[in-house]
Amino acid sequence: MQTQMLPADPAGLAAAAALLRQGQLVAFPTETVYGLGADALCPEAVAAIFAAKGRPAEDPLIVHVAELAALPRVVAMVPPLAQQIGAALWPGPLTLILPRGPQVPLAVTAGRETVAVRVPDHPLARALITATGRPLAAPSANRFGHTSPTTAAHVLADLDGRIAAVIDGGATQLGLESSVLDLTTSPPTLLRPGGVSLEQLRALLGEVALAPRQSSAAGMASPGLLERHYAPESSLWLVVGPADPALAWLRSRTEQELAAGRRVGLLLCDEDAQALAHLAADCERLGSSSDLAQIARQLYAALRALDARQPDLILARDLGCNGLARAISDRLTRAAAGRVVHLKDTETRR
Ligand code: TXA
Ligand code: MG
Repeated sequence: MQTQMLPADPAGLAAAAALLRQGQLVAFPTETVYGLGADALCPEAVAAIFAAKGRPAEDPLIVHVAELAALPRVVAMVPPLAQQIGAALWPGPLTLILPRGPQVPLAVTAGRETVAVRVPDHPLARALITATGRPLAAPSANRFGHTSPTTAAHVLADLDGRIAAVIDGGATQLGLESSVLDLTTSPPTLLRPGGVSLEQLRALLGEVALAPRQSSAAGMASPGLLERHYAPESSLWLVVGPADPALAWLRSRTEQELAAGRRVGLLLCDEDAQALAHLAADCERLGSSSDLAQIARQLYAALRALDARQPDLILARDLGCNGLARAISDRLTRAAAGRVVHLKDTETRR
């Protein structure tokens, strides 16, 4: 199959919508990352998503709708809380878990009686949903377990020849996936930190529980929460702790690895990069640690770029859990797949 690169104009949108209505797969930009879209109401099209990504059938998909008013098309009921949160935070990087509507095939929800829904904050994404006339099921448009794509080129790097088309809408604004909030529990549970912060959710809802991180799919609230996810080819090590000791750890580990003749990749905020600039390591800068939005936007592209140069290992420092840092920390922790060095007790990370 030849994958078409479609322009972000009315003709491109019309072509994409026609493909989607035929049950084909089209990747499209959202404000978070690129999604791999299919008609959410067509089980065959949904099955094709799992095949193209190599995604396990037990990992459910997010359904994208164009506006809050379309929610009743995909859920069994709209609880007042969903109405309130949707009105406050949609369109936006927040996915709500709600009771599945009977129209949504079980292939989308991996057999669950709940469905994940969001209204993306990207004009192209919403125009595409409207033009297609269907809700769109869309996971991130990467091969399963790989880093999520923030450009159309990233999508092609993973899925060229496996999907009908990708709409090129440039680099995504946010760079990290949506927050996933389960509204079927009381209090609501944050299953995945993302573009909407825990602080924002708590300000709106009061109590919000945090899902524990899990490393086995058995009985999980959300299978996509598996530890090994968003992973580069090179082994990534993440150091967690106060800035000064963490930086000292990075310095000595880098020196040690370089002395052993290994090629070290560093994924660092500008301040850390500056402090370690004298070392002969290959460094990708993420932006100033005071600008978390910039770091989030750069994270996946930087990780892909560094990984493509095939260092023997990649080192990164955790930036805490305030605001967007929680989502950044979550993705780095998953990319590290267990290679996390805690320099102090984990109390401060709750
Ligand atoms: O920003 C995003 O959320 C992007 C864009 C394309 O919208 N999508 C995305 O999809 O990241 P995906 O499939 O990579 O991640 C969806 C997450 C997974 O962790 C999945 O397990 C969880 O949502 N999920 C989906 N349906 C669920 C359900 N019914 N219950 C619990 N978790 C669910
Ligand atoms: Mg994904």
